[in-house]
Amino acid sequence: MNFELTEEQLMIQKAARDFAQNECLPGVIERDEQQKFPGEQISKLADLGFLGMMVDEQYGGAGMDTISYVLAMEEISKVDASVSVCMSVNNSLVCYGLQAFGSEEQKQNYLKPLAQGKKNGELYIGAFMLSEPEAGSDATSQRTTAEDKGDHYLLNGTKNWITNGGTASVYLVMAQTDVSKGSKGINTFIVEKNWPGVTVAAKENKLGIRGSDTHTVMFTDVKVPKENRIGADGFGFSFAMKTLAGGRIGIASQALGIAAGAYELAKEYAKTRKAFGTEIMNHQAIAFKLADMHMKIEAARLLCLKAAWEKDQHQDYTISSSMAKLYASETAMWTAIEAVQVHGGYGYVKEYHVERLMRDAKITQIYEGTSEVQRIVISRGILK
Ligand code: CAA
Repeated sequence: MNFELTEEQLMIQKAARDFAQNECLPGVIERDEQQKFPGEQISKLADLGFLGMMVDEQYGGAGMDTISYVLAMEEISKVDASVSVCMSVNNSLVCYGLQAFGSEEQKQNYLKPLAQGKKNGELYIGAFMLSEPEAGSDATSQRTTAEDKGDHYLLNGTKNWITNGGTASVYLVMAQTDVSKGSKGINTFIVEKNWPGVTVAAKENKLGIRGSDTHTVMFTDVKVPKENRIGADGFGFSFAMKTLAGGRIGIASQALGIAAGAYELAKEYAKTRKAFGTEIMNHQAIAFKLADMHMKIEAARLLCLKAAWEKDQHQDYTISSSMAKLYASETAMWTAIEAVQVHGGYGYVKEYHVERLMRDAKITQIYEGTSEVQRIVISRGILK
């Protein structure tokens, strides 16, 4: 067993840390307040190769491992989780799904520009569309339909809470093609945003990750070419589950970063803020909080890295990614609340960042499978 990172992994971690400090930190409070999509930051991430980190170089990716992806996600999430969720969705849900299960033609047409994050010099990212008004955790209850019309499918339905919904050029859409077959009657389709019949509703006004671009997207008689179905007929739900297992490593790393960011701010504050004649770190009430934060974050980091390692070793990482996601997101929420407490009144105002991290932490317990869904996946996995 070796806990040391390679030189390349350390280099990527440093590049991500520098990027977060130099490019994400300036303006992060204003972007949160104004719900401004971090377009410039995402464009620079694309130039760094961070939007297709694990995609093979032959398909325009950076050819890095999942460990590097976890390290980069943590560093960027310490500073701006609105940037990192966009990065996570494009890397894990869109690029990974296409690389693992797409046809050669789909890889040439879509994966290449998505992995580069650019097409003809313009931002080119993807979105993953599983959730619906009545199908969140209960994901097999898809109401969106895709009717087989011979040479194409006709897509109708509504997708909710879609990250990158307004900025993405390409959507991976799950839809029911045969209700009688249940989850085996679901397919995933590659849909372009500018096709006739696609409507993007207003951006959601959210509690946290307010810069990220979250929308409802409607499909009305959208013609999807047959060749844009991913995999064999009926593979769509399995595609969603397999892809989400990797996505959960991304969100786990995001949660880890939020927790670590809140902890670092709390620790620095505790070293300088004085109360009752001494720096507050000298009071056990504060020191013990910091000790618990440090321990939980380290445990979350190890779970994230273990899941990433299993993925890189081509092992089954379904349970590990759910454990990493569950534990890291619970740690992020707890740590961020405690970091606000350590800051006292200062923690409740925006300049000190921890209140934003607290709001951002909450979504990590919800998206890409709630904490309750992770417990379903883990318990079914260990009890089968
Ligand atoms: N790999 C392959 N196949 C899988 C699988 C996996 N990991 N997990 C399940 N399946 C298969 C099952 O084997 C089953 O097939 P059979 O019928 O042949 O046995 C089929 O899929 C249905 O599975 P279940 O019977 O287990 O389905 P269920 O209704 O009990 O639900 C669930 C299982 C785990 C709760 C699932 O619905 C789930 O993960 N829900 C949460 C959905 C989710 O994470 N949504 C996130 C939206 S995306 C997002 O948030 C992105 C963003 O923008 C940030």
